[in-house]
Amino acid sequence: MTVVTLGAHILDVLARPVDRIPEGQDTVVVDRIRVTAAGAAAGTAVALARLGNQVVSVGAIGDDDLGDLLVTIMRREGVDVSGLVRRTTDQTSASILPIRPDGGRPSFHVPGANLTLTASAVGPGLLAAARVVHLGGPDVTFGLNDPAFLTVLDAARAGGTVVTMDLLSNMPDLVRGAASFLPHVDHFLPNEEQASAMTGEDDPEKAARALLAEGPASVVVTLGGEGSLVATRDGVHRLPARPVEVVDTTGCGDAYCAGFITGLVQGRDVPEAARWGTAAASLVAQGLGSDACLTGLDGVLALL
Ligand SMILES: Nc1ncnc2c1ncn2[C@@H]1O[C@H](COP(=O)(O)OP(=O)(O)OP(=O)(O)O)[C@@H](O)[C@H]1O
Ligand SMILES: [Mg+2]
Repeated sequence: MTVVTLGAHILDVLARPVDRIPEGQDTVVVDRIRVTAAGAAAGTAVALARLGNQVVSVGAIGDDDLGDLLVTIMRREGVDVSGLVRRTTDQTSASILPIRPDGGRPSFHVPGANLTLTASAVGPGLLAAARVVHLGGPDVTFGLNDPAFLTVLDAARAGGTVVTMDLLSNMPDLVRGAASFLPHVDHFLPNEEQASAMTGEDDPEKAARALLAEGPASVVVTLGGEGSLVATRDGVHRLPARPVEVVDTTGCGDAYCAGFITGLVQGRDVPEAARWGTAAASLVAQGLGSDACLTGLDGVLALL
């Protein structure tokens, strides 16, 4: 049984530490520069593979060097990339992230081919055969907001596939556009900013309750260093983040989703799956890049 990650694929280039952009043509020597497969689908796919899941990733990337590198990294991680379509008209989505000494992560970003993804990239029978389908960033892969796709998704759910969803952007119009997926999703894991933009509620608990009313069985709002808020029909509780020395929080949300999904796949309930997500995210916060310090499921379980 596989997990299908469907949505945003981004090549991240990270440098650390960077506290300012140098004047003129000056060069600043940094400790480390890395390249990772990131974005709410690709980054979560890599984390899921590290945690021992069989993963198929579906998305749109460019027919370019960035895309070749993204594919190489994902393959090496054991992710099935046969669901990636290559575009000649748009570049592979990419981000440059100069990570501050305190772990802060400003970014420069090209949305690129992610904006061209449509349901035609989803192979017949793929969703129905999956144990879990993770919609990673339908706010940017808005071509999936298509009745034909939602019908296929609903049919898969009727057959037992669990659907999870996370968002990518912090642009209110895009984030609000993802609301139409909520009735078709079992577990929704936005960050605080996205939950607020979707609902108009600044209080994450009120936002979670409003999102829960749209259909999902659970809504998990991630609160960065403050942890997360887990809302189900049984109630709402807060889960603190693990106290760690933060290097870079890029991809913590994706690692949280991967830990959460792995918990569900292994038969855990939502509160326990959220603990698995928290543990996975705390590892990623301790190194540079969205895959940092995530060596395997044993490392996550050892923290619980
Ligand atoms: N400073 C931190 N210390 C410990 N854990 C953290 C820290 N920041 C984030 N986390 C963990 O990662 C989880 C997700 O973080 P966050 O809310 O920042 O996700 P996000 O904004 O969706 O990130 P992403 O860029 O991956 O989408 C948090 O719920 C928490 O468990
Ligand atoms: Mg996120």
